[in-house]
This record gives sequence, structure tokens and C-alpha cells, in this order.
Amino acid sequence: MHFTRRFARRALLALPLLALAAAACSAPQTTTDPQSDFADAVQNVYLIVTILAMIVFVAIMVLVVVIAVSFRERPGREARQFHSNTRLEIVWTIIPVAIVAIIAVPTFFAIADTTDPPPAGAVKIELTGHQWWFEFDYTELGLVTANEIHIPAGVPVSFNLISDDVIHSFWVPQLAGKVDLLPGHENNLWFTPHLTAARDEAYLGQCAEFCGLAHANMRFRVFVDTPADFDAWVAAQKADQAPTTNAAATAGEQLFLASACVSCHSVQGTTAAGVVGPNLSHLATRETIAAGIMPNDRESLIRWISNPDEEKPGVVLMPAFEDSMTQEQIASLADYLLSLQ
Ligand code: CUA
Repeated sequence: MHFTRRFARRALLALPLLALAAAACSAPQTTTDPQSDFADAVQNVYLIVTILAMIVFVAIMVLVVVIAVSFRERPGREARQFHSNTRLEIVWTIIPVAIVAIIAVPTFFAIADTTDPPPAGAVKIELTGHQWWFEFDYTELGLVTANEIHIPAGVPVSFNLISDDVIHSFWVPQLAGKVDLLPGHENNLWFTPHLTAARDEAYLGQCAEFCGLAHANMRFRVFVDTPADFDAWVAAQKADQAPTTNAAATAGEQLFLASACVSCHSVQGTTAAGVVGPNLSHLATRETIAAGIMPNDRESLIRWISNPDEEKPGVVLMPAFEDSMTQEQIASLADYLLSLQ
């Protein structure tokens, strides 16, 4: 008894802390701060449903209390019972039907708005899901990148979604989703980020369909730039990689171009043209590696190249290079990758 009471008190004390922690964790991936037309549409329907649900909840609770009190057993009077009251039954059938009908109208409008064909002039991106990373191909702009994209504020962006293996799902809570990436069937998703959505910090995205061992580690980042910043980013990403002038990176460059790296990875402007793994062109301009789970720095790159499966259990396509290279060689590869500006 004593133990239970103490436990209950501690649990009560922990509640606000848990709520705080939840708020801190969910802040970057919230649906309640929409930053695009698509996210606005979802949020509007959600608000209508929530308000109606709250009205229903309060009404039912009040009715339960009123009925329990007024029809209870009293001295000299039995509790009152009802059996089949046609008028009541009609009322409590019509009310839910009316509520569902009210919800249906904005829902259908939101579905129609968000599934219209994308407008002309939209930035087109072919998005391919892989176990466990995202490949983004800006077909008309001629650049390919992985796990981190930039899009212009105030301009429609249209994604064709497909999967290379199993079902994945595209979800950036503040911008759009969830839309599945299916093997063998293309889905489309387009949205226009608000002009005010432009900022330096990324909007966090996450694969939202269980897709295997590393599903939780399949993340991506969306940077919403001002149109001028976006144009500058595109120009920089399309530029060929100049041969490195960085002394520390030269050994890594030679090793990279002469090793198995090039059979899976591409670096624009070099002989590396593999398409199995993420495109590494201008890798140093990205904030993270390994589909958003590690910061893009020397230490993380070394750990990743040494043994990817240890950092992200389930990675099988990329071998542990610590088995075939010295730590010095791996460090030089990291130096090379960090020189890919
Ligand atoms: Cu990809 Cu879950």
C-alpha cells in the first residue's frame, strides 16, 4: 500500500516532465505548425474534426451525468428504465450522420485540392525510396542528390514517388505527406511551401511506412530557400567537382576513384558514376550523412565508412571498409568527401 502510494505520487510528479520531453521531441516534426498549402489543408480538416469531437465529448459527458442523476433510484421511487423510444433513436441516428456529413465536405475539398494535377512551372523531383535512404532527382534541372533537398519558397514542387524495393512513405509533417513510395506504381504529391517558410533550418522528414530493420533511421531534410538562394544552390550542385587542391584530401581522392566506391557512388565531374548508392556530389554541403542519422563531420564519416552496419543496423549493400582498408586510408576518404564542396 505504502509502495503504491509513493509510486503513484512519483508517477504524478513525472507527468509534467514527460509532457515537456514530448513537446521538446515533437517540436521539429509537428503538424500543428503547417508551412505549405498542403499542410494547411490537412490542418484545417484536423481542426474541424477535433472541435466536433470535443463538442460530442462534452455533450455526452453532460448527458451521462444528467441522466444518471435524474433517473436514479430514490427513496420511494425505482430507477427509471427505458426500452425502445423511437423518437430518441431517430435523434441519435441523425446527429452522428449529420456530424459525419459535416466532416465529409471539407475532407473531400481537401482531397480534391491536394490531388489536383501539379501546376505548370512546378519544380519536378523524381523521388525514389531505397532501403534505407531517399534519392531525389531534379529531372528538369539536371541534378541528383540524396536525403537532403532544397526547394524554393512560394513555388510549387511536384514529386513523382516510386520505390526501388519495398513500400516507403514520404512525410514532412510541416510541409506534406504521408504518401507512399510503392515499387512498380508511381504516386504524385505536390505542394507549395509558404513564402514565409524560407529559413536556414531544415524541415525534418521521415519514412512513415515500416520498411525493414532501419526504417526508423530513414530520414531526410527539406530546406526551403528564398528563390534566389534556391537558384544559387542549384547552380552549385550542378557544377562539376574540381580536382581537389586540398593536400589532406588528395590521397583520399585517388583511393576513392581507384576503389569499389565508384561502382556504387557518383561524384559529378569525376569518373565515379555508380548509381546503386547515394549520389555523393557536393556531399560536404549536406548537414548529415547516412539518411539523416549522423552529422556530416570527419569523425562520423570515418565511423560510417569503417562499419556502416554498426551505425545503422541492416545496411548490407555497403561493406565495412575497416576489413579491407587501414584507418589511415579511411580517414583520407573522409577528408576527400569533406572536400566535395
Ligand atoms: Cu522506408 Cu520506412
